[in-house]
Amino acid sequence: MQIVKPVEQVDMARNKRLLNRYRYIEYETLRILAAWLPATARMEYKLALGRFIWEEAQHVQHLYRRLREVQTPAFRPPDDPALEELMAEAINAPDERSLLAGLFRVIKPALAAAYRWHITQTFANPDAPTLYALRHILLDETEHLAWAEAELADHPADDWERYIADLLAHAGGVTGDSDRPALSSPSACRKPFKTPLTAARDERFAIMTQPWGDATARAKDEEAERRLAEFENYSQEMLAAETVALIIHLSPEMPWGFVYDSARHCYDETRHCLLGIEWMEQHGLDYARVPQNIRIYEWRSQYDPATQYCLLTRGNEAHAFPFRHKSLAQYEAAGDLLSAQYVSYDIADERQHVAYGSKWLLELMTQNNIDLPLDQFIEETVDLWRREYMSGELPLHRQREEAS
Ligand SMILES: [Fe+2]
Ligand SMILES: [Fe+2]
Repeated sequence: MQIVKPVEQVDMARNKRLLNRYRYIEYETLRILAAWLPATARMEYKLALGRFIWEEAQHVQHLYRRLREVQTPAFRPPDDPALEELMAEAINAPDERSLLAGLFRVIKPALAAAYRWHITQTFANPDAPTLYALRHILLDETEHLAWAEAELADHPADDWERYIADLLAHAGGVTGDSDRPALSSPSACRKPFKTPLTAARDERFAIMTQPWGDATARAKDEEAERRLAEFENYSQEMLAAETVALIIHLSPEMPWGFVYDSARHCYDETRHCLLGIEWMEQHGLDYARVPQNIRIYEWRSQYDPATQYCLLTRGNEAHAFPFRHKSLAQYEAAGDLLSAQYVSYDIADERQHVAYGSKWLLELMTQNNIDLPLDQFIEETVDLWRREYMSGELPLHRQREEAS
């Protein structure tokens, strides 16, 4: 009997172990980026983070689909404390650029290199679904690396990056198979991550300080004014993305399906923000001159994640449709194709967001120990939204903030 010795280095057991490590790194990267979205000040970075969060979710989804074919349960910890320590530490960066440098100049390049190596070493035909997943993930990862290379070109490798590289080496690299040198001391610039209760903005933006006024007083009758106000508001939708990102960060026990939907929700809101920015630029206007109403994020963030999710999906999002449809009709009647297109796509996204709300709210309530019938919770939370958001008051309840 002839025995053929395979040349491939990745057998099925090793394949599973590696896929678990990749899935873990991709998922934790998503969670770290979500945690940092509100804390990141530079608008260009915030907009990019929205896309990265969604794309990391696609990567996890690819790996999840493959893992569930070869193991049950599909999601497993990597069974390597050193790798868990790396991803637990990567969030504690001193600032947003160091955070991105650690993730995009240390961890991601190593991950991409592991994917490229893996593609050449697994059994090409029997393991073709893994190859498909890795090849498609690499399309995004290559772009992420190029983005970071350009954005961080003037950011020198610092002690933080050295620390992340040390932690990665101590975990035996992405595959865990390299030599594991002893860990040196943590970076002196390490800053324990704190949940951001306020939304950061860079120095270009003015912060809205005057009272917001109630919804009726804010409404504009004149068509051009109303249109401008609508797209100025779009340019502020980073606030919704920040709330969804915060909910992802605060809900580590929610199922993967929730994180996947929320990654999309978060990305959509960054796209709506960008759509406002683009519209303003196309009309010769500077979006940075629109004062940022970051109080909205601060107000929402004082509540538990289920309440925040309900305020957003059942308050803001569920109630926006009549306004948007009126806009759409006006833009179409005026032959304003650009505005009509933007609003049409927004309406399609927002329908999904309301559907996510219906799909996940009950489970999020359970996670947050809210023991009310769903309908009652929604009714009370929408009342709260009317009282505190629609009135423009956005009160901060000190005791609640301290208790959180
Ligand atoms: Fe939106
Ligand atoms: Fe939305």
